Amino acid sequence: MENLDGLRDEVLASVGAAADLDALEGARISALGRKGRITALMKGLGALAADERRHAGQALNALQAEVVAAIARRKRELGRGELDARLAEERVDVTLPVRPGPSGRIHPISQTVDEVVAIFGEMGFQVAEGPDIEDDWYNFTALNIPPEHPARQEMDTFYLPGAKDGSRLVLRTHTSPVQIRTMQEHAPPLRIIVPGRTYRCDSDATHSPMFHQVEGLLVDESTHFGHLKGCLIEFCRAYFGIEDLPVRFRPSYFPFTEPSAEVDIGCSREAGELKIGRGGDWLEILGCGMVNPKVLENCGVDPARFQGFAFGMGLERIAMLKYGIADLRTFFDSDVRWLKHFGFAALDIPSLVGGLNR
Ligand code: PHE
Repeated sequence: MENLDGLRDEVLASVGAAADLDALEGARISALGRKGRITALMKGLGALAADERRHAGQALNALQAEVVAAIARRKRELGRGELDARLAEERVDVTLPVRPGPSGRIHPISQTVDEVVAIFGEMGFQVAEGPDIEDDWYNFTALNIPPEHPARQEMDTFYLPGAKDGSRLVLRTHTSPVQIRTMQEHAPPLRIIVPGRTYRCDSDATHSPMFHQVEGLLVDESTHFGHLKGCLIEFCRAYFGIEDLPVRFRPSYFPFTEPSAEVDIGCSREAGELKIGRGGDWLEILGCGMVNPKVLENCGVDPARFQGFAFGMGLERIAMLKYGIADLRTFFDSDVRWLKHFGFAALDIPSLVGGLNR
């Protein structure tokens, strides 16, 4: 029988050197497999004399047990090594801060436009747009505001430098010129709302030289003042989220509507604090009226056949009332602290179904 010490060292060395589980299995097979070196020696025991056989058998059994134990130990080591390697690789630093959410905010004006569009969209109005720079005819004349009409002065118009032909361009003082453009381009029936920038030379806590309005225009063969009232009452209640909000129509004058009205909503002013809703006091929020037949005529729409209503309101004003913003000029200060406070989460898209007042 060969020297078992040499075999033992060799086999244990190959087990100890196995770098992974495959190599370890190879080492096991070459020692203890069917044709392994220790197996072969055990098969040879039968040919030995009884005395020698017992002696050699005991030595081989001890060697086999030692190798089996060494393989098991190495297996544990390799397994732990693999686990250690995975743990090192897949390490998570639990002290890191959680992933921050989006930090940008939707500006209250954008949010208010979305809210107004959601409400009127549900009533079948479509969004229309027009240019910020208009000529005199679209901004005034076509809307039945003739030259020298006091409304031209009242609106504190920004005029652009005069052109050679004497015509003057203006920064539109209201969104009403888009009524004219829409009626020129599309035949009735029409139902549009026009959110957009407007400009007047004025600046204090409730005025900014650039501000926003939303215009509404509906033209068809049968719409009357009752529809105008129903539509705007519905709007006010939906926008402020107050089901029984009092809404009042007060006779007024606009050159482009006849008859005209200003719309007030109910509020209370107790101890200097303004609250929208029942309370016995009134707050003006928009202008409206039946489209003046002269305006229809100016756009080539037959006033004997078509009629409709129009309205216009200041977006900053209704945003200030709803969200408790005290100074209109702060909308345009670009102060990130203000935006963080009054802004809206990017995915908080207003809809009548999802809620306007989250
Ligand atoms: N254009 C008017 C304004 O700026 C508002 C308005 C629009 C009134 C449409 C009646 C109809 O004050």
